[in-house]
Amino acid sequence: MCGIVGYVGSNSSLDVLIGGLRRLEYRGYDSAGVAIITDDGDLVTRKRAGKLVKLTSDLEHTPLADGKTGIGHTRWATHGGPTDGNAHPHLSADGRLALIHNGIIENFASLRDELLAEGFTFSSETDSEVAAKLLGREYLAGGGLAAALGRVVVRLEGAFTLLALHQDEPGVVVGARRNSPLVIGLGDGENFLGSDVAAFIEHTSRAMAIGQDQIVTITPTSVRITDFAGLDVDAEEYEVLWDASASDKGGWSSFMAKEISEQPDAVANTMLGRVHDGQVVLSELAELEDLLVGIDRIIVLGCGTASYSGMLGKYAIEKWAKVPVDIELSHEFRYRDPFLTPNTLVISISQSGETMDTLVAVQEAKAKGARTLSICNTQGATIARESDAVIYTHAGPEVAVASTKAFIAQITALYLFGLHLARVRQTLPASEIAAALVELSAIPGKIATVLKSKPEITELAGWMSDSRAILFLGRHVGYPVALEGALKLKELAYIHAEGFAAGELKHGPIALIEPGQPVFVIVPSPRHPNSLHAKVVSNIQEIKARGARVLVIAEEGDAAVLPYASEVLRIPLAGPLFEPLLTVIPLQIFAMELATAKGLDVDQPRNLAKSVTVE
Ligand code: M6R
Repeated sequence: MCGIVGYVGSNSSLDVLIGGLRRLEYRGYDSAGVAIITDDGDLVTRKRAGKLVKLTSDLEHTPLADGKTGIGHTRWATHGGPTDGNAHPHLSADGRLALIHNGIIENFASLRDELLAEGFTFSSETDSEVAAKLLGREYLAGGGLAAALGRVVVRLEGAFTLLALHQDEPGVVVGARRNSPLVIGLGDGENFLGSDVAAFIEHTSRAMAIGQDQIVTITPTSVRITDFAGLDVDAEEYEVLWDASASDKGGWSSFMAKEISEQPDAVANTMLGRVHDGQVVLSELAELEDLLVGIDRIIVLGCGTASYSGMLGKYAIEKWAKVPVDIELSHEFRYRDPFLTPNTLVISISQSGETMDTLVAVQEAKAKGARTLSICNTQGATIARESDAVIYTHAGPEVAVASTKAFIAQITALYLFGLHLARVRQTLPASEIAAALVELSAIPGKIATVLKSKPEITELAGWMSDSRAILFLGRHVGYPVALEGALKLKELAYIHAEGFAAGELKHGPIALIEPGQPVFVIVPSPRHPNSLHAKVVSNIQEIKARGARVLVIAEEGDAAVLPYASEVLRIPLAGPLFEPLLTVIPLQIFAMELATAKGLDVDQPRNLAKSVTVE
């Protein structure tokens, strides 16, 4: 939530900031703004409510003086609606200092009262302006910008990333973070700060992570990191593996369309280098190897789509590695005082690696003595760094708010973990592990086959664009797919959608079925041993008998569904645990195409941000 970029160097800071904000807009898009110290030494700002394009067209009509030091922000509103006044940057009382903020300052009301009592006035309803006013006041007390920031951050409660600059210190941008993301980009004669590496990836692939409760000062030629008390701390440089062009639309109508098409690669790249001689070797688990043999329980944490990949991980890990797995929403886990033992492994799943609910749940698990593993798509992300070990998914940057390729890559990583664990614990013969890996290796080609059905799905979505509610049913691994299909539709097309376990139907949800009600049903292959195919077909009959319009996702050649289905979307044969990697694809495309048919922005759906960095 909220994208942040900072720049010092010898180039136009306006160009760098706007370029960075374009790449960060997926983090929040209800207003945007910049502050620059001009070449004449003035501090100038411009901010506008609405998407970034509002700011850029405003800058085209009324250009802003440029300079070589600047900060920029794209906002997802928490305190105060999306207005010009609430947009960042916010200024100190004397107008010589500008500040941008991501997060929530929980004690802002008492700080604001303190400042009001001293005669300060406020021009916004935000918690962030309180930090700007406080920092301006502290700056006047002396010691420079970084020292003033150190005195301010210790007074703040909650989560924050702050960036600030001051007219009297051209060529300096300072930043601070607590439970909110901030990364340094290292250039040649220039340096950058960003909420994530997308902010500066077109300029440099050299990055440095900033730890919790740390302050950074960048100049064109130096980077200094301290703790909140001002003591120097070391940080390691790393190479960002993402290619700058990977976060461009590249000719596709939307990032989501591009990312859906990249799913074969998301699976293949996540497997790359991790399979040797028919076995999975995850060298990144070395830290946890002692635990894996005697592990007594796994708890998987995530939110939204990440939690659904976790549900699928449960089916696979329990079956292969014979360890009990619980899946829990991070925000529920965090506040229920969970009972953990030193032999419990807590696996967190997060594309961004910055989701606040998941981050604090990981911190809670560690505080309670559990060991932690994260599955993340973003190198150097906070959750990855706070976990004992990390398995990176290699889906590449995911820009569209709706998660697609990251979901597929998370399932792949969880399956690799399950097979690794099965080898370490000797719960599955080597031949069965090898056979599962053959299945997984075939998935990219099978996804490519499913992607060819796009025209058919687009047509279906066009017919259904005025639907008021759509239901999704699945059993076993089809159940998380039903939940994911419903989530995609809600977030993109703003249509009421619910996913149900098909077995639950007669326990309540069947009351929703009335003539014409569209219901997607995910049908497992009839060819698997102990297949639930017959059970699902009987659920189809039950809803058909009550007038539902049945839309089926079924294996190529499954004729049993034909008498009841209005539409059948076909997938190639895959092993029972591997079907979700295929059955979810038509549902992703359906949601995207239905939103497009309704004229909606599929990359930036209303009210949402890609990375939820506040609780
Ligand atoms: O970055 P994360 O994977 O932690 O994000 C978790 C959820 O916020 C995310 O999956 C969300 O549900 C997506 N917008 C769904 O498409």
